[in-house]
Amino acid sequence: MMSNGVSQALERYATPFFLFDEGELQAQAARIRSWMPANVQLCYAMKANSFVLEQMSREVERIEVCSEGEARSCFALGIPDEQLVISGVHKEPSFIDEFVREHPHMCRYTVESKAHFDMLAKAAQSAGHPIRVLMRLTSGNQFGMTAAEVKELAQRCAKLPLVEFVGIQHYSGTQKTSLKRVARELRKIDNLIAELEAAGIPVSELEYGPGFPVSYYDLPEEDQAQLEGLACGLADQLGQMTFDGTVVLEIGRALVASCGTYATRVVDLKSNKTGNYAIVDGGKHQFVYYGNAMSMRQPPCQVLPSKQQGSVRAWNFCGSLCTVTDILVKQLEVQDLTVGDALVFERAGAYCMTEGISLFLSRDLPSVVMRDVHGSLRLARERIETYVYNTPGVHV
Ligand SMILES: Cc1ncc(COP(=O)(O)O)c(C=O)c1O
Repeated sequence: MMSNGVSQALERYATPFFLFDEGELQAQAARIRSWMPANVQLCYAMKANSFVLEQMSREVERIEVCSEGEARSCFALGIPDEQLVISGVHKEPSFIDEFVREHPHMCRYTVESKAHFDMLAKAAQSAGHPIRVLMRLTSGNQFGMTAAEVKELAQRCAKLPLVEFVGIQHYSGTQKTSLKRVARELRKIDNLIAELEAAGIPVSELEYGPGFPVSYYDLPEEDQAQLEGLACGLADQLGQMTFDGTVVLEIGRALVASCGTYATRVVDLKSNKTGNYAIVDGGKHQFVYYGNAMSMRQPPCQVLPSKQQGSVRAWNFCGSLCTVTDILVKQLEVQDLTVGDALVFERAGAYCMTEGISLFLSRDLPSVVMRDVHGSLRLARERIETYVYNTPGVHV
């Protein structure tokens, strides 16, 4: 699944950069869809990568939006309101008021708490047009509400003509590899839906986040095989539910991980009695690989250009931060490593570029390069200086 535009991108653009491949993005969305029953819809959780939002909005029915900033990205790109699910544990009243008033065709709002419900109901009342809500069922953490609260609020909707209860949202976490856990969750949801319907409250929709995993430390083929197994297992489980309304799968990581590549170049080499160190122009402020907090594991990565001659040595690739924890990969054996060589990571399309400690040391944010379906490259974001955010008075 390696983005094959990386060599051309290295010739054209200064490192460090992320490269997102639109062809792979389309292919992955099509694969996931092909494993699901035809009536299952897809919702892209845009927090995974907002650079591919526009492309992804053409591949999926919905976009899950978790903050005002994410919503503003959608508006800026002209993503239709009819696709947007306004979600998130903290909904600021000012932006909810504005969205409800000015976006009458917003697809859905999720309700995370009774306070959210009151805020949304009030906003709909003053806007004078209806909104459609999904009640988020908690999995036992700070997100969502208990089944009893969901029932209470769904019942209240019956008395509020401008708040239409459509269904349930449930997401219990990312990187889920257990089908048993998925089956347990779906049973619980199915029971709740049955109770609601028995109480005379129709439920037409389930928006479910399966938390599909990406196994970063396995080969891409093994990773895809695991995903296919889990997706087909989920499709079976959905078929066993009594609920027969619309199912929407909310997915981030598994949709976009495979379309991304991160490239950073070696800027210095040194050795001492503890080992060989290659300093790169990127680092952990720009690039976080799930599960590799202390660089205990070796993610698949390669050095370009690959060389056939010269001595092979094991290198610790360290980023540009002033912390000993800024190690991207340890003890990677490389032939004839020299300053200017690039270190390239695959499956960097989900979360990797936003979960870093971006402001530490006031280093730049990396540039972002897009590769379209014809193989053409274009710059989607220049490198961005961050010192302005760390300097008093500069950004007031
Ligand atoms: C409510 C919700 N839905 C969907 C997602 C996407 O999850 P994943 O990237 O595991 O598919 C998240 C991720 O945090 C989430 O919070």
